[in-house]
Amino acid sequence: MTKNQQYKFVFISLIFVVFIFYFYEPDFEYLDTIGELLSIVAGEPINASFPITFYHSAYVDYRFNPPRLRIFTLNRCLKNNQFLPMDGSCPPSYILAATCAYTPYLFTIGLKANEDLKKVTIHLGSRKVELNVQKVYKKSTEGITVCLQPVYYFSHWQNIVLYIEAWRAQGATRFIVYFHSGTKETWKVLEYYRDLGLIELQFWPSFPSLPADIADKHPKIDHSVYKNSYFLAMNICVLNIKTTMGTVADFDEVMVPTNGKLLDYATKEMTNTKVGALLFDNHYVSFTPRIYTSNFSGVASPKFKVRLGPTKYIFDASTIALAQVHWPDSFIDSSMRNKDADGALLHFRFDVEEKNFTTSEKPFRFFPDNHSSHIKNMQDTAIKIFNGAVPTFSPKTYDTLEKCVQKLIPVEIRTCLSIGLCRAEMDKVNDWVYAESDGLFLIAT
Ligand SMILES: *[C@@H]1O[C@H](CO)[C@@H](O)[C@H](O)[C@H]1NC(C)=O
Ligand SMILES: *[C@@H]1O[C@H](CO)[C@@H](O)[C@H](O)[C@H]1NC(C)=O
Ligand SMILES: *[C@@H]1O[C@H](CO)[C@@H](O)[C@H](O)[C@H]1NC(C)=O
Ligand SMILES: *[C@@H]1O[C@H](CO)[C@@H](O)[C@H](O)[C@H]1NC(C)=O
Repeated sequence: MTKNQQYKFVFISLIFVVFIFYFYEPDFEYLDTIGELLSIVAGEPINASFPITFYHSAYVDYRFNPPRLRIFTLNRCLKNNQFLPMDGSCPPSYILAATCAYTPYLFTIGLKANEDLKKVTIHLGSRKVELNVQKVYKKSTEGITVCLQPVYYFSHWQNIVLYIEAWRAQGATRFIVYFHSGTKETWKVLEYYRDLGLIELQFWPSFPSLPADIADKHPKIDHSVYKNSYFLAMNICVLNIKTTMGTVADFDEVMVPTNGKLLDYATKEMTNTKVGALLFDNHYVSFTPRIYTSNFSGVASPKFKVRLGPTKYIFDASTIALAQVHWPDSFIDSSMRNKDADGALLHFRFDVEEKNFTTSEKPFRFFPDNHSSHIKNMQDTAIKIFNGAVPTFSPKTYDTLEKCVQKLIPVEIRTCLSIGLCRAEMDKVNDWVYAESDGLFLIAT
């Protein structure tokens, strides 16, 4: 460590001393490191033996006053749940996640307004880890940023074309896609939109192994974390949004207002109001012909299938504090509220045609303007991406994933639904494109 780094480290340590006095006012005189700070807030020692991995960036969130340092981790349950595991309890109450050994945590600490953190060094006993710092501000650039939860073993490439084109037409300006794995066709489509500057592709790789001397005492992280830790990905994405509006939606979900364009509608409903999020009711949609076996012509006349499903939402990115999948968890200003949207979540689930739901008439459409020009554009885009040889969809890979997931889903003996467990089976049926490990998650060494 150079002298300069040492000073920086002392500086950061001192800042943390300041936080802890500022917020917790504990009855001791001096804290060496944030490692000790974590231990104090956790209610138990977090030391070199504790199984934990850190997201590589810490966030200083200036939307809060005073600003807050937010550190994302995956670790085993802690005694003190004050620091927000996935659904507020640990182990999670959600049955498919209940036996996972690793749960997302978010440690938050109030900062003094004028501190300018450059990096955060966390000492865990004999080990340490260094996180870079990103800053989060209120948003002024008009637009919608769409966050995708980790895309794993994805094969319905047609969905992505319809999704990107429909969301763009509704006012989306940026897509943040966390990519774990997909077919070659999926990857080609993502690359195409990445090269157009629309998608920011971020790898969401398998999780790293714990340090060698403790690895055999704990389950592998990759084998015991719920669904690629979508909760972590979603909330990290929310902090990376730079536009006024944001949303978290899967590749088969588009939110539309009854009239006009989503961005205009959402801006009108949320700007300078106490509405922080608009909730859209689920509407299953089927196409004839199907987009997987034909072209996109079926998008012109969607059929709506009546069946209730949970909402999805679009939010004011300056005010959301923490996201859940189907509604906001909390806002920065606690007087903000949700509002039911005048519109629909169009959910074109892969298997909806096979389900015997009653069809009903609805006024909703994917595009706010001329459908035929968008449909033509989608056909042309597919032809361009695949150089004229547009592949149809093979259900084999999807069926393999479904079978593997069904096997993991607990019946009597509860099992953590971790996608890492499916890799061997998935590798047998296809040559997957996988995310490269690029230091997204860090282990203290
Ligand atoms: C870490 O803390 C645990 C208690 O959770 C303790 O049993 C163990 O000895 C500590 N390990 C080290 C290396 O300090
Ligand atoms: C799209 O598919 C439909 C039905 O299979 C067909 O009638 C139509 O000609 C196709 N359009 C194009 C542009 O390929
Ligand atoms: C579909 O649902 C209708 C009405 O609920 C029922 O009469 C019909 O038998 C069902 N068809 C199949 C194939 O399950
Ligand atoms: C919609 O677009 C199609 C194809 O680009 C065009 O032929 C048609 O005239 C347009 N319709 C309207 C109402 O603008």
